[in-house]
Amino acid sequence: MKKTGLRFLAVLLVLAMLCAGGTGMAAAAGSDNGILRIASVMNGDTESSRGISWATEEKSESVVLVSQNEDMSGAAEFTGSCERFQGYYMHKVTLSGLAAGTTYYYTVGDRTNRSRVCSFSTDPGRGEKVRFLAFADVQASSEANFAQAANVVRTGYEMFPDTAFSVALGDFVNDCTNEEWNWYFEQFAFLNDYVSMAPVAGNHEGNLKWFWFDSMFNIGKAENSDSVTGCYYSFDYGDAHIAVLNSNDMYPMSQQQINWLKNDMNETDATWKIVMMHRSLYSAGKHTNKPDSTIMRHMLLPVIDELDIDLVLGGHEHMYLRTYPVTGEGVVDTDTTYVSEIVDGQETLFAVSPEGTIHVMPSTAGTKRYSVNENALSYIQNAAAKMESTSGKGGIFTSISIDGGELVYQAYLVDDETGEVSLFDSFGIKKDAGGAVNEDWQELPTDAESNFAANIRNLFYEILWVLQHYLTEVLPQLIGSLL
Ligand SMILES: [Fe+2]
Repeated sequence: MKKTGLRFLAVLLVLAMLCAGGTGMAAAAGSDNGILRIASVMNGDTESSRGISWATEEKSESVVLVSQNEDMSGAAEFTGSCERFQGYYMHKVTLSGLAAGTTYYYTVGDRTNRSRVCSFSTDPGRGEKVRFLAFADVQASSEANFAQAANVVRTGYEMFPDTAFSVALGDFVNDCTNEEWNWYFEQFAFLNDYVSMAPVAGNHEGNLKWFWFDSMFNIGKAENSDSVTGCYYSFDYGDAHIAVLNSNDMYPMSQQQINWLKNDMNETDATWKIVMMHRSLYSAGKHTNKPDSTIMRHMLLPVIDELDIDLVLGGHEHMYLRTYPVTGEGVVDTDTTYVSEIVDGQETLFAVSPEGTIHVMPSTAGTKRYSVNENALSYIQNAAAKMESTSGKGGIFTSISIDGGELVYQAYLVDDETGEVSLFDSFGIKKDAGGAVNEDWQELPTDAESNFAANIRNLFYEILWVLQHYLTEVLPQLIGSLL
């Protein structure tokens, strides 16, 4: 009996060791045979191409196999480049010649060591309904906090499995270390393994964190976009044309980037014009009155008006703010007509062909949340349809769906304690489907040399403007709040 008992214990011990080994193997499989940070991102024509990237600690070939079959049968091979960066080998392969509206499966690696099978779907093209998930400022510095932010976004992906692509609105990481990036990619593999991403450069991977953002993703950068502090680019998806700005470029924006944005938006005939950037143009957080955010608003708001942008998505402030349709500095379009409709069982207010732009900053999916800045300039407060801190409440993810002339935006809060998800905010826009290229547009120069004088002029002009702004608006507010 005693021997039998010992044998039983030994069997249990072996089983326990096997289970522990299994867990270890699963963890090793998480790094996929030394293959880390797999991502597919927008790179040129979203109907036919993608930029794939990954990292390895050892130097190896850069080979992507792509198939329309999950078992990878009939796979085509694409090769690319590998560059050493901050202790890792960063691989980039650009896929081309893909079919529109098609799901592709792919593996990455060298000719013997392959990754797990990942996938993405290509843009179905004009006239097709498209939904994407957007979230801001994961900005974690511990594995647990990356996991908590990932749970918020996972809730969104489970709720909307028809998600075509994701948008991370900058500040993926806090200190921009290899450890943080590895945690980010491990925790967000549930999403990045299945949908392509449109990454936005935040200050935490841009300011004095040179080339990190560019090394991490294989983005189809705009011509003349530098890659030091991030990059800017644009893409079409369904009926939307989306420009992704780099708000770290010359702290915050170069004339060449502004010229590029003007060219880009004047040359599209998409129904919807959307801008995504990290530093928000409308915000009421702790950065609101800082020079970089102030200059950004001053330089860019007139451009947003000029280009008839429908929606601007931003981050950086870790609090929630959504404006009415506005022009310039907080001019609310009071002539806008609204209609109410039920969407997903919820009453949703649609602005009908509004003149202005709606700006949204969807707080953060992460755990670092800030309060509303009571000293935010009054024009921002007046323009806010919803302005709220999510501190102590939960993380936010958003769904944006575009179907012809109808855009539906929904922000959801995932409760920290219970994990319960609730609709936090929503709105819609209706307009006539179909846009037009500006035939009269004269293309502006986008190279640094041509814009050298303009950048110097902007620098001096903006310094003077910030001084005047602080003396006449910010300082009196601060004094008023102290009295
Ligand atoms: Fe930020």
